Amino acid sequence: MKNNKLTTLAASALLATTTSVSAADVEVLHWWTSGGEAASVNYLKGKLSDAGVGWTDFAVAGGGGENAMTVLKSRAISGNPPTAAQIKGPSIQEWGDLGFLADIDGVAKQNNWDELLPAVVADVMKHEGKYVAAPVNVHRVNWMWSNPEVFRAAGATIPTTWDDFMVQAKKLQDAGYVALAHGGQPWQDATVFEAVVLGVGGADYYNKAFVEMDMDALNSDTTVEVFETFGNLRQFIDANAPGRDWNVATSMVIEGQAGMQIMGDWAKGEFKVAGKNVGTDFVCSAAPGTSGAHTFNVDSFAFFAQGTTAGTGAQNIMAAEILGTDFQTVFNLNKGSIPARLGVSRAEFDTCAHDSMDAFVASSSSGSLVPSFAHGMALPSAVAGAVVDSATNFFNSDQSAEEGAAQLVASMAAAM
Ligand code: GAL
Repeated sequence: MKNNKLTTLAASALLATTTSVSAADVEVLHWWTSGGEAASVNYLKGKLSDAGVGWTDFAVAGGGGENAMTVLKSRAISGNPPTAAQIKGPSIQEWGDLGFLADIDGVAKQNNWDELLPAVVADVMKHEGKYVAAPVNVHRVNWMWSNPEVFRAAGATIPTTWDDFMVQAKKLQDAGYVALAHGGQPWQDATVFEAVVLGVGGADYYNKAFVEMDMDALNSDTTVEVFETFGNLRQFIDANAPGRDWNVATSMVIEGQAGMQIMGDWAKGEFKVAGKNVGTDFVCSAAPGTSGAHTFNVDSFAFFAQGTTAGTGAQNIMAAEILGTDFQTVFNLNKGSIPARLGVSRAEFDTCAHDSMDAFVASSSSGSLVPSFAHGMALPSAVAGAVVDSATNFFNSDQSAEEGAAQLVASMAAAM
């Protein structure tokens, strides 16, 4: 009897210890499971561990994060949200409006986030004027990754316009290469579509049609032209593209089976993990027709209300670590992106990152800095979903450009 009592007491003491330890840990939802992504997230984990905060990994595989967002919704609805989740753009506002988020305004004020963050980044991190999320990076989405050896072997040159893309891609194909490495998943189709929108339509059209949802811009001939160019890309991907993960497509470029991939600069993380060097082993260039423009995609962790002091304390530590110069440097060297905050030295970054940094600054004064709709930065989530579905339906069918444009406009209007 006595022994039993002791066992019970010991068990409850153990429970108490375990509970208080886990309360000071963070459980973090993300979808960073590729080589470069995992290296990045591991760095954050290490930083928190140095600061005395444990990490429970809540990784939901699936590039672009659609699976992760589905799982997050079911966890939140059942009253059990994680400590922090990779949520971006207007979705942060949507979660804030539902009352799920905790503010980290105290940490933000203490560390002068308003001065450290460009306004275009800071605005997205706030809900009703208070910081509820911390930005880890700025990805540039309108990139093209090429294997120079494949181009040499095929006698082709890296295209800078969509017209020339068709000519050079044909050369790669005739020489036996896959011209465009692609994974047939909706978000990847949308990523390529977005590059075509910017390259063919320009930044003004992009903003009017895919940020402001202006019906005149959407109903214009430009939208048909966009679909024509997008449709012309169908011939340059291989038969095994359906369902392929984006990092597998990147490895086709790394290994010299394919010439090019159109993908955000998280792809650079894969070249890095494979030990490849920019310039010699791979080349980064703006997606055709988009040189100087910058389609931005800011990754950020939003914090969910916890209801315990220890939980809030761990969130504050995480938020403060994320904005540190050391974190922003190493994380982004691994991730392929550039720091979200000002005041981080450029010295350790490569030429692709410098190009992204320069384009970010120059495009913000020229008006060609645009939020990525394929990566949840531009549109309410229902409308963004309609755009992704329309792009992927078109790309995987034999719809004409006119049909593609009409379907896009109708489904966007229905989702507004
Ligand atoms: C993006 C995300 C990037 C990258 C990519 C592929 O939406 O912003 O950080 O991880 O998906 O998974």
